[in-house]
This record gives sequence, C-alpha cells and structure tokens, in this order.
Amino acid sequence: MTWQPASRHSQQAIHPYIYRLRFGVEEFRPRRSWNVTLLEQDCPSAFEWDGLQLRHTDFGTLLRLRQAPDWRMVTLKELPELLARPGDALPEGPARQQIRLVLQRDLEAGYYALGQRMSSMRRDPGVYCNWSLDLPAGHYRGMPSLYQAHPYLVAHRPGLALGMFLNSTWFSRFDLGHGHEDEIAITTQGGEIDLYVLAAENPADLCALLADLTGRAALPPGWALGFHQSRWGYQSQDEIVSLVDEFRQRQIPLDAVHLDIDYMDEFRSFTFHPQRFPDPEGLSAGLREKGVRLVTIIDPGIRFDLHSGYPVAREGALHGHFLRNPDGSPFSGYCWPDSALFTDYARADSRAWWGEQQRSLTERGVSGIWVDMNEPAVFSSPFSQGFSQQNPIPLATAQGAGEDSTVHAELHNLYGHQMAQATYEGLARLRPEERPWVLTRSAFVGTQRYAAAWMGDNQSWWEHLALTLPQLTSMGLSGSPFVGVDIGGFFGNTHAELFERWMEQAVFYPFMRNHSALGTRAQEPWRFGPEVEERVRGHIGLRYRLLPYVETLAWQAHRHGWPLLRPLFYDFPLDTEGPLYEDQAMFGPWIMLAPIAHPGHRQRMVYFPEGRWYDFWSERFVDGPGCQVWPAPLGQMPLFIRQGACLPVVGLRQSTSEPVQKNIWWLFPGPQSSQGLRINPEGEEYHVCLSSGQVCFDPPVAARVVVRRDRHRVEMEVDGDESVVCL
Ligand code: GLC
Repeated sequence: MTWQPASRHSQQAIHPYIYRLRFGVEEFRPRRSWNVTLLEQDCPSAFEWDGLQLRHTDFGTLLRLRQAPDWRMVTLKELPELLARPGDALPEGPARQQIRLVLQRDLEAGYYALGQRMSSMRRDPGVYCNWSLDLPAGHYRGMPSLYQAHPYLVAHRPGLALGMFLNSTWFSRFDLGHGHEDEIAITTQGGEIDLYVLAAENPADLCALLADLTGRAALPPGWALGFHQSRWGYQSQDEIVSLVDEFRQRQIPLDAVHLDIDYMDEFRSFTFHPQRFPDPEGLSAGLREKGVRLVTIIDPGIRFDLHSGYPVAREGALHGHFLRNPDGSPFSGYCWPDSALFTDYARADSRAWWGEQQRSLTERGVSGIWVDMNEPAVFSSPFSQGFSQQNPIPLATAQGAGEDSTVHAELHNLYGHQMAQATYEGLARLRPEERPWVLTRSAFVGTQRYAAAWMGDNQSWWEHLALTLPQLTSMGLSGSPFVGVDIGGFFGNTHAELFERWMEQAVFYPFMRNHSALGTRAQEPWRFGPEVEERVRGHIGLRYRLLPYVETLAWQAHRHGWPLLRPLFYDFPLDTEGPLYEDQAMFGPWIMLAPIAHPGHRQRMVYFPEGRWYDFWSERFVDGPGCQVWPAPLGQMPLFIRQGACLPVVGLRQSTSEPVQKNIWWLFPGPQSSQGLRINPEGEEYHVCLSSGQVCFDPPVAARVVVRRDRHRVEMEVDGDESVVCL
C-alpha cells in the first residue's frame, strides 16, 4: 500500500527547551498508564513551528521536515528485524499502521545515542532499530537491535546539542542517511509519531533536559559502586563462602557477590536449592559480616508448575497475573525451567504482586535483585534439551487491563522496563529504609529510574573490549548513567592479557562486575598468576580509593542526569576533534582514560583536549590540544588528570562497609584557582577551593590537615571523624 498523508497533528512546548510534535493517522489516543514522559503541561517558550521547520530563538533552526509526515499499512514480512516467531502476524489495528517522519540530516552534525549498540559511538550512516532482542547468535558489530530499546537520537555540533525522543514503545526504525545521505527517516508502528525535541547548548545540559523529561536515575546504595564478583556456575553456598574468604585473604576489595540461576531449585524463581543453598539467611548474614552483599538473579519465566506446591506459579495463575493466549488459556513459553509462565507487568496489580514476591529474597538478607531474560527471551525448545532459537511471545498476546488493554506488540519493548519497575517498587515497599538496587538486561528510555544495566552476553574478545567504551558512553547520552559490561567477557575463555586490560578500564565503569558463562574458564582476579593478580588488586584498589569521587558523580547523575562515563565531546563540546576519539572517555570532569583494547599493544596514540593533563603514573604532563604517542605497559593504562582537579578520595578499604578513616583530597593545582566537590553518601556537599596556595574549605574544617607532595599531586589528608572533618 502506498503512503498517505497523516491527517492529525499537534504541537506544544512543555518546557522552555522541550517541544512536542505529534503526527497521527487517526484521533490521538489518550495517554497510556505506562507512558515514560513526565512533562505534559504547556509552557511558555521561544520555539517557533511553521509546519515544516522548528526554530528556537536561542539556537536558530533545530529541524526541518523534508516532506509532510505520512503513513501506510504494513505486514510482518516488511519488518524482518522483529525476528517474530514463525507463523506470527501483526495484530489488527495500530500495529499495522506504520507512520513516517523524514527530516533533513545536518551534514555538519555528529549523531549519537540511540542506546545500546554494538557499533561505533558516532551513528554513521546506517539503520538503527528499536526492538528488544536476545539473539542466540550472540553480539556482532552493526546488529540492528540488542536487549534494550532507546528511540532517542542526539545531534551535536559546537553550540548545539539536540535530542529527539520518539515516544513510541512500538517497533521503530531510525534510518540515518542510509537511504538518502541528507535524510533521517523515522518510522514506527502504532499510527502515531510523538516526537520530543530537546534543545541545549551542550551535552551536559541536554542530559539534564532528558532527565527532566524521562526521570532521574535511581541513586545506587554505596555498596553497589564497589566491585562485584559473579559467575554462572557457582554451585553451592560453600563455594560462595570460600570465594569471599579468598577475596579477603588475598586482600582484594569486594562488595557484592551475584548468585546466578544455579542457586534456584529447578530454576524456580524466588526459591533456593534445598541441598546446595540450604541456608540463605546464614549465607547472607555471614557475607555481610565480611562486608559483602548478596545479589540474586530473577527471571520472568515462572516454572509452569501448578501442582507441586510452588506458590508463585499457583498464586499468579489463580489471580490472573500471567499473560494469556487469545482463548484465555495461560501463555507458556520455554526458558530455563522449560515451560514457563510470564507475568503481565503492564497491569498495576500484577506489578504489585511481583513486587511482593521479592519478600522471599529480602527476608533472607538478599540486598540487590538482578532481573534477566526480560526482553523477554523465550526459547524454541526446552532448555533441558539443549541449545535452541528464540521463539518470542506472539505479537497479538493480550497485555494490560481495562482501558489499557493492548497487544504484546505495543509492550514488547517495555517488558524489561516494567519488570524492573515492579522489582524496584517491591524493594522500596519491603525495605523503605534502604535504597533499592536492581540490575536489568532489558530496558527502555526511563528505566534509569528503577535500575542499573549491564550490556548482556558479550564475548571474551578484544573486539568486544574495544566496543565497550562506545557502548557505555552511548548509554550515558541516552539517559542511562549506571551501566557496565561483563568484565573479562561472558562467552568464551578469557586469558591473562585480555582480562588484565579489561580490569584496567573497568575501574571506570559506573557498574563494575566480573561475570562469565557456565563452562568457561574461571576468571576470578587470581586465576592468571601472581603478577596479574598483583596488578588487578591495584586496579580494584584504585576504584576503592576513588570512591568518594565516584559517589559524587553518582549523585550528580541522580540529581542532574549527568553520566559518570562520557565521551570527550561531552566535556569539550567546542572541540571539533574530540568526537573522533571514541577509544577514550572522561570519567567525570577530571579523569581521562585512554585504555588499551588490542593484544600486544604497549603504547597508543592519545588525544589531549585543551588544557594541561597530568600523567597519573609519572612525572610527565602534556598541554593540549594535540595528539601524542603514550606508553601503556601492562598495569598502567594511559590515565590523565586534568589540571585544576581536586579529587575527593579515601584510604584503601576492602569493602564500602568499612568506616572511612581518612578523608583525602588529591589536588592537581592549576594556574588559577582549583575547585573540588564531594557529595557524601547522605547527599551533603563539601567544597574545597585552592587559590594562591591557600586552601579554603566550605563548610570549614576543624581538624588537622596534613599535606604531602607526590609528583604533580598534592595530597591533603584531613584527620578527624566525619562530623568534624566537613570536607
Ligand atoms: C543470560 C544472562 C547471563 C546469565 C545467564 C544465566 O545469558 O545474560 O548474564 O549468566 O543468562 O542466567
């Protein structure tokens, strides 16, 4: 069928710098209960829309339509990227209405964001789809979608950072100059384009606008910023206890251990295996005494077991919390427990019920919940019979209730988001005194309100290590600041050099976890010999020394939406070279990392943006802008501190549960004054200012200050307890 003009449109400023453009096939539908945007009201602004162009008096023209928006009917055949189950079809109604918006592509701008991708950070001409998938073939460069869907594009050129959020949970596709070099074609199902245009002067302000629109990231509890150890295949409680003892005996800091599906009783979510994990309360209490928290995995596929007394399946079925087939029978699909039932997280009562299920974990002392397989991943044959393909939930499966009843095709991209929401809200209700911590694999724009995320099942390959920085910095630009990847790689066997290089850069992952697949070689930090262990102990130790700085960045991510790990152009938006260097990143405003992601490399080219940069490891410094070849021996990844930094640090601890003995500042004085900020775990701000050799504290310090000089660094140690030190 040919394209027809879209007959509905509306426009509205909802913030001085956010404009909403809507184009539809029919009457606009009322807001869904799961809508992720938070701003609705009209707001005075300086936007001007003439039907084809959007301008803002501060920035000039922001976007230009190439043609009037239009729509057509489509079939599933035309959407191969959905990888729907064989024989499936698009349900009747809006799922078949594909609507299109074609914009002029600014050839001067760089395009970024669009969430989780296995490709360069700069979204080169290409096609990017938004549809949550767990691909059995694994990750490969340029794949159309991964586990998460972020229909949010950023265009940047010096002086303008523009965000475009397509508020559609249906399948969507962004063609960036692929069909036509000078066009961006955005298409989605659902019969409506609901586009939010965010305009800012620089990327930091743009991230703040996105947080205003889609919510602030949940602030993680302090322990979650430490080091996490995980593995699919830790078989028993005894193994976990020995693992933690080994960390302690080897003096390698550790804050959390993750239990993968091995802990469950025949893969029943919310159970512990009676023989292998007989005493979860004892396990979590014992670990906690050693300063280590327990995190347990939970999968949405609930074992289809209504007769053995498994209360989760029975109650869920009795109260109608699971997805149903069109004939009203429960929908079942294969996952780890073979046949499984899937909670309908689009229903508020089902989310509340799911939240309540966390009690069986919190009562046993579990601190954090890791929600997995929530794309959702459904296998084509029972897991007990070996490897299988994906066989996703049929697109017409009913979801939601009452006025919000719809089909899975509309909610597929939100399944992980709403599972994370239900889990987070459950934890908040069950343990109001603690900040919930949820880790999710699938997500949508806005999931940052509920969960941190990891990037799923990568491989122990150099190529995947190299893709990590572009992937994580893109997540930060897409509104998701608390992110990490499996250190060492998930599938395949890692080896000493790869593992070590991975650990070097992981010091700066907002979420830092070593994890690997069942059957792969063991990759705890001591598995590669004493020399590697020694250096890796140093890397994890550096993370622990930097924790006050990490906590400060975490607060800023929570309050302002600023990502912890970000591309160079974020901190140097006027630098036209910065965007080219995707294998470097900033960790907050003061630390620049230039990691090694290639075998055998012992030096690399580093780009230095404007300013003076101190080598973290030597006496050297460089004045940017410019490039230099820099040495990178094992254990000393190129790492630079920007002149003027005052970094809040702390003495080495083995866990964040150990009391802070000494508050320390590392000053890297600049020619003018230097400013430092620490936000402590309670959210209180401490400022330090260094000017003409004088240090001022705000609030003032009533304690002894010890000053030491070490190369370019002035170390200032402030003695006293937390209440007196006031740093
Ligand atoms: C999925 C997860 C992985 C986990 C495995 C077993 O593949 O992505 O992290 O180890 O399931 O639960």
